[in-house]
Amino acid sequence: MTDRAGAKDSSSLEFAISRRADAVPVAERTRILADPGFGRVFTDHMAIVRYTEGRGWHSAEITARKPLLLDPAAAVLHYAQEIFEGLKAYRLGDGTLAMFRPDANARRFQQSAKRLAMPELPAELFINSIREVVDVDRDWFPTVDGGSLYIRPFMFASEAFLGVKPASEYLYLVIISPVGGYFKGGSPAVSIWVSQDYTRAAPGGTGAAKCGGNYASSLVAQAEATKHGCDQVVFLDAAEHKWLEELGGMNVFLVFEDGTLQTPPLSGTILAGITRDSVMTLARAEGLTVREEPYSIDQWRSDAKSGRLTESFACGTAAVVTPIGKVASPSGEFKIGAGGPGQLTTRLKQKLVDIQHGVAPDPHGWVYKLG
Ligand code: PLP
Ligand code: COI
Repeated sequence: MTDRAGAKDSSSLEFAISRRADAVPVAERTRILADPGFGRVFTDHMAIVRYTEGRGWHSAEITARKPLLLDPAAAVLHYAQEIFEGLKAYRLGDGTLAMFRPDANARRFQQSAKRLAMPELPAELFINSIREVVDVDRDWFPTVDGGSLYIRPFMFASEAFLGVKPASEYLYLVIISPVGGYFKGGSPAVSIWVSQDYTRAAPGGTGAAKCGGNYASSLVAQAEATKHGCDQVVFLDAAEHKWLEELGGMNVFLVFEDGTLQTPPLSGTILAGITRDSVMTLARAEGLTVREEPYSIDQWRSDAKSGRLTESFACGTAAVVTPIGKVASPSGEFKIGAGGPGQLTTRLKQKLVDIQHGVAPDPHGWVYKLG
């Protein structure tokens, strides 16, 4: 869908900015920012850009965050033509804000759009939309330790039409949530439930796209995990029910006693995590071996028991790098290492976080300064 009208020549679209007069009062905002949780509170403004077939991207604005008026026949409400991204803005040591690898999110957003038969948003427009709304809402940066601005760009089919076809009208928006940690209490290590009955994605499906439908179908498995006292669910492959894929909202890594790492390959059924890619790059730069190869649930159990596997961790924008302490399934549970954060997990997390916050040099050009 790269050749849809306007997808190429609208990259430098200007945003009309209208600041709201009824912004959240400073005292209330200050109270919220001391303990924002994750994804429950939002800044005062949002970015919005419209797409109309034949006209392309247009009417870019930064405006008050407010409910949207949607026709009940809007295609997204019926056929789930929707995609999203998740990235963070961090505060650097000098007080300025920076995003982490937004170009990679922009690219993935285009790939998700292609899979969902949606128009591709130019990368420059994606990055500009975020820059503009962060700039207007920069006073919303949380004061809680480890806080950041979680940025949620998303796009959906707004055309009112019940035929099953790609819509001809879309809305693209960016909202921002000031956040602390994703896991309650900062969880030194999380527990994982192995989903036996549900799979997340099959070959040829939408597993590699960041579309809302993938998450809708994961909820019942996540609820099962919660029922069994686990923090997250891990999905196995759809064909054999044997190979580790990913968690509901994170990629997974295994660490072995010989100091090597392994992570499931990008087979088309999992999300190509930007944190996953960053962790692999950091590990390889240290001289470590990282394999992108299938790993079975039985192997995980036996390697954890024999001590061949010493650590496991989940990673993603929201979760950063989170140690996995325990894996549970209907056939019993097993502990990873001592059940807490392992050495390599802790070191790689620190390296990543230090780059994101401008504490360490940025040899890969990942930090995108917002000023
Ligand atoms: N896998 C899934 C299903 C996710 O939702 C996420 C989060 O975005 C990830 C993996 C990790 O991706 P990233 O590191 O780009 O945030
Ligand atoms: C992210 O990490 O950005 C995600 O989209 C995952 C979600 C669990 C918040």
